[in-house]
Amino acid sequence: LDRILSQQDAYGASDEGNGKTICIDYSSINIAKPFHIGHLSTTVIGSALCKIFRFLGYKVVGINHLGDYGTQFGKLISAYKRWGDKETIEKGGIRALNELYVKFHQEAEEHPEYDDEARAYFKKIEQGDEECLALFHWFKDLTLKDVQKIYDMLDIHFDSYAGESFYSDKMPRFVKELADKGIMEEDKGANIVRLDDYNLGTALITKSDGSTLYITRDIAAAKYRMDTYNFVKDIYVVASQQNLHFQQLKRIIELMGYEWTKDIVHVPFGLVSLEEGTMSTRHGRVVFLEDVLNKAIEETRKIIQEKGVATDNIEETAKMVGVGAVVFNELSNNRIKDYVFSWNKVLDFNGETGPYVQYTYARCASVLRNAGEEAAAKAADPSAVKAEYLTSESAYQLARLLYQLPEIIMDAGDKYEPSIVTRHIVDIAQGFNRFYHDEHILVDNEEEKTAKLALVLAAKTAIRNGLALLGMDAPERM
Ligand code: ARG
Repeated sequence: LDRILSQQDAYGASDEGNGKTICIDYSSINIAKPFHIGHLSTTVIGSALCKIFRFLGYKVVGINHLGDYGTQFGKLISAYKRWGDKETIEKGGIRALNELYVKFHQEAEEHPEYDDEARAYFKKIEQGDEECLALFHWFKDLTLKDVQKIYDMLDIHFDSYAGESFYSDKMPRFVKELADKGIMEEDKGANIVRLDDYNLGTALITKSDGSTLYITRDIAAAKYRMDTYNFVKDIYVVASQQNLHFQQLKRIIELMGYEWTKDIVHVPFGLVSLEEGTMSTRHGRVVFLEDVLNKAIEETRKIIQEKGVATDNIEETAKMVGVGAVVFNELSNNRIKDYVFSWNKVLDFNGETGPYVQYTYARCASVLRNAGEEAAAKAADPSAVKAEYLTSESAYQLARLLYQLPEIIMDAGDKYEPSIVTRHIVDIAQGFNRFYHDEHILVDNEEEKTAKLALVLAAKTAIRNGLALLGMDAPERM
């Protein structure tokens, strides 16, 4: 209790990372493609890892490695010129761009010449053609502006937006290095790295027309990050479908002779599906994350109104709890497991959910309010707390959970697993509720009351610090 009451917001922090930098590549959206529920995992897991490592003392560079390179931008230009108009796109943002993209694919089935045109447009972007480049930047700005709404809702921030196109002029050097070091070989005009000896197939580095690939840009990006940030870890929060890609990447960098390949970490996660079935971008069966978050807020508002309110700011509380519920749910699952998104589970105020933890936090706050300012202030003073009054089983179990928080946070960092923190704050919330149920807190004996209130304040602090690492706010009233 001493430690929690004196360290407050810093309880659970550490200096193990002082002087060290960690790069975290997360969210890493694709320009002009819908930001759907599938992107939730990388975005919130990555953001939580940024917060956890910062709390552990590391300097963290959060990187949104934008997917802003490739023929799809040629397709988009072709589609825009044929069917698009400025106003519709400005108004519709990503959704309108995506419609153009879907239309292009439908039409190109009957008009294969559209594909050639798209390739030509992409070449023009690469060569710096003014008109094509302007359109490309416009698509990019529109996408980022649209996505920013979601990042704001989730309180997500990045230190760098250096994406795939950022590396276009940096790749040739590495392609040459691969050739010079004898790692790469020519195959029908293309350049490949054979990794059969490691059971990793073959990596295509450049196609026969000279164009580069996703992995070529990742090789350049990894080296750039090492040179720029001198990282102790370069973490990629990317779906497990890309396991092979990252194994190949690590191996190629090792073959180039860079020992820091051992510090490249792929943090994979499983698939999110909806109760109504799987999503398919091509068939337009996507659930936009923005709609999910708005629905969460709306459902929460309904629940608050039904249950009666302890707040005069329903709007803000609905946002905090609704968005928090989605985030908390995402971070409750062991990240590698596939899971089905269920509204009932997400918004259950009695289950092991975000609303349950936030409600417990508000309950702690309410106990302290009811005790009065003077009593609460006394409980915040570590020297006034007499632990001999905290002998019941539920008080002991709660104190023990609070004591474990710093180790739990460290463990979550070691395993790149924010759900370890999530589950522990659920345990703390349950521990608090048991204590609250078993014990009379506002007793007449002043010393006993102070000790019990100190435990309440400590639980409140621990829950708040835990929630903050997940990117969630804690409401004083709910
Ligand atoms: N934009 C990619 C995708 O949506 C993810 C990029 C992950 N980061 C990376 N450096 N490869 O699949």
